[in-house]
Amino acid sequence: MAEQPADPGRRRFLTATTAVVGGVGVAFAAVPFISAWKPSARAVAAGAPVTVDISKLEIGAQQIATWRKRPVWIIRRTPALLDALPGEDSRLKDPDSAVIDQQPEYAKNEYRSIKPDVLVLIGSCTHLGCSPKFHPEMQPVAWDENWKGGFFCPCHNSRFDMAGRVYEGSPAPTNLVVPPYRFVDDSTIVIGEDPEQEVA
Ligand code: FES
Repeated sequence: MAEQPADPGRRRFLTATTAVVGGVGVAFAAVPFISAWKPSARAVAAGAPVTVDISKLEIGAQQIATWRKRPVWIIRRTPALLDALPGEDSRLKDPDSAVIDQQPEYAKNEYRSIKPDVLVLIGSCTHLGCSPKFHPEMQPVAWDENWKGGFFCPCHNSRFDMAGRVYEGSPAPTNLVVPPYRFVDDSTIVIGEDPEQEVA
């Protein structure tokens, strides 16, 4: 006996049922994936970028922000402090900032900054994490008779210049860290985000 042709109405029903089940399956499969990918509120709070208004930051002064629970210094260097930087090269451990991960690529230059005058650094000594003190004076000081401004860590006497580069003879092994940051405009920076042209 010849086989009966398939019931077209039943086939339509089965196709529709399969599509619905397939859709539900995708929906259920997607939920755990999204949960695993989404950072927790605590992680966002700990690592979220921080917007800082630097409109009141005067030339030669320091402003301190907090990012990832760490102090971030923002300093507007004077022309004299900038002019003195090249002259310090021979006294530094890493004058060209060759050690990787101490600054983003866009801050790997003679000023270690995006704009020459505005310096942004993590305020934590690369020796054992004390907070170095800001000493912008360009005159002999107790720890250096040729001081051209910079940072002095009182814990074990590490010295850094006005670009955060560490001096020879300091226990700190590397330059102070420049965090990722970008300018929104002349008086606003975001710490924790790269400039847009740096994002792939
Ligand atoms: S922690 Fe700064 S010199 Fe030791």
